[in-house]
Amino acid sequence: MRHLLDTNSLSRSDALEVLDVAEDMADTQQREIKKLPTLRGKTVVNLFFEDSTRTRISFEAAAKRLSADVINFSAKGSSVSKGESLQDTAQTLQAMGADAVVIRHGASGAPRTLATSGWITAGVVNAGDGTHEHPTQALLDAFTIRKRRYGADSRGRDLSGLSVTIVGDILHSRVARSNVWLLHALGAEITLVAPPTLVPQDVSTWPVRVMFDLDDAIAAEPDALMVLRIQLERMNGAYFPTEREYSRRWGLDARRLGSLGPDSMVMHPGPMNRGLEISAEAADSPRSTVLDQVTNGVSVRMAVLYLLLAGERDGRHANDEREHAR
Ligand code: NCD
Repeated sequence: MRHLLDTNSLSRSDALEVLDVAEDMADTQQREIKKLPTLRGKTVVNLFFEDSTRTRISFEAAAKRLSADVINFSAKGSSVSKGESLQDTAQTLQAMGADAVVIRHGASGAPRTLATSGWITAGVVNAGDGTHEHPTQALLDAFTIRKRRYGADSRGRDLSGLSVTIVGDILHSRVARSNVWLLHALGAEITLVAPPTLVPQDVSTWPVRVMFDLDDAIAAEPDALMVLRIQLERMNGAYFPTEREYSRRWGLDARRLGSLGPDSMVMHPGPMNRGLEISAEAADSPRSTVLDQVTNGVSVRMAVLYLLLAGERDGRHANDEREHAR
């Protein structure tokens, strides 16, 4: 793998490779000493032009657990706020010897520009670009679903036969887009639920069923119900009457939590607006995978960095490195 820009171009076997390597990484994270020597001497730059807590920390933890050096760069307080272009920033990173650049940017397509511009030779990982994609989030979500469902038997399995319902602000959500492409590649059945104003116009071309009523969608007993954050910062118009009304019609409250099937899991990528799209009862219930998602995020990002930075060597060497990870 040279870059990870989206899930739309990942095949089932590419996706399973990431998930299975992430299983190996997760095993190493049970040990007392979590650090592996695999990426010693490599430099990973976290280039964050948008706010982030868990994604940035997760990439940092992943890179450090693999012994890479990590440079964190956030646009606030940098020359970007003085108007420096992406090109100049990228060329500066190149001159410092970055082997991988993890980029989060408000503009959809910025990671692809970086990867294809010729400004840098580093591998590029998209950590969220505008409303476009957030591939590592979708990979950690798929990993979490598979692990909850199949436990120690997860390796090698896809998600066929499982149903996933995604509820909320689909229109502005890069998490929803990346999940739709990946879940589809892995064979899951996907339902989207949202107010009509928060459904993208081109949704008829997506491999999904669209519903407007959350109670109807819950009655269909999905294996996983993924709740999305209402992204008020990306809304510059009125998409629903009031927050209270949103919460009443599309929020996962205690009553709806109680009517979910006994084995359904509740997911949220974070950060949660407790009391708006998800109630405290749902967020903190044993069905909630929210903290598993955070834990699994580190293993999945370790797998991605490994495949980008160590996977290109000759097969034997790469396998030896994998043995370290086992
Ligand atoms: C998501 C994001 O930034 O796209 N959060 C995350 O990465 N965990 C979703 C969101 O902000 O709602």
